Amino acid sequence: MADIKAGAKGLHIGFIMDGNGRWAQRRGLPRTAGHTKGAQVFQDMVKYCKQLGVEAVTFYAFSTENWKRPKAEVDAIMRLLKEYLNRAFDYKKEDNRIVILGDKTPLSDEIKKLMAEIEEGTRNNTGMTINVAINYGGREEITHAARELARRAARGEIQPEEIDEEMLSSCLYTAGQKDPDFILRPSGEKRLSNFLLWQSAYAEFIYMDVLWPDFTRKDLDKAIEEFLSRNRRFGGI
Ligand code: IPE
Ligand code: IPE
Ligand code: MG
Repeated sequence: MADIKAGAKGLHIGFIMDGNGRWAQRRGLPRTAGHTKGAQVFQDMVKYCKQLGVEAVTFYAFSTENWKRPKAEVDAIMRLLKEYLNRAFDYKKEDNRIVILGDKTPLSDEIKKLMAEIEEGTRNNTGMTINVAINYGGREEITHAARELARRAARGEIQPEEIDEEMLSSCLYTAGQKDPDFILRPSGEKRLSNFLLWQSAYAEFIYMDVLWPDFTRKDLDKAIEEFLSRNRRFGGI
């Protein structure tokens, strides 16, 4: 445990919260019951990561592709989201900074307003950064950044030749943040599903068979242990 705590300090961990639907279906429950349980696990993981001294966490909550799901399921996820955003004001006391990653345009005015309040209210907090990816897609994020740079170039504020990785990074939803050290995907699926495409260039991937609603602090310990055993070379030797 002491080693895990020492190793977790300063990390940025990405979580693809997957397997909610299967968890519910296996119990004969509606898929939304899995999302409700998954949201509780999210809350506990935030607390635990904070205890471990993790620097930043990014939770994939809703992708740009998840709109393909039945309206009733999307509505249930949006309701949960609202509930958790309302609770997020507690995090303020804990000095966490909350950042929403994704294109907010299609979200309801009520959700947009809550998000703005939370991001504004926690902007200057210096504790752990909690990124929540909502209507997030890695490709959408890069496209959004490209559009922004094109606009600046068209206004004559920058020359195309000046665009470098740093400038593009600064136009992503994660501007100014360190890249994720590792990305964890429970549920047995082994893919990124459009999560942090740019930022994961050198991230370690850790896939686990447990479904997200069953994910425990022990599972996170295991993932951190696995991460610490990897040899990262970043292209060197
Ligand atoms: C992840 O769980 C939650 C969201 C994508 C919103 P799923 O709902 O994808 O669960 P499975 O993969 O169908 O089991
Ligand atoms: C990824 O899970 C998105 C989130 C966890 C929010 P999905 O369940 O949507 O991914 P696929 O469809 O299995 O790739
Ligand atoms: Mg899934």
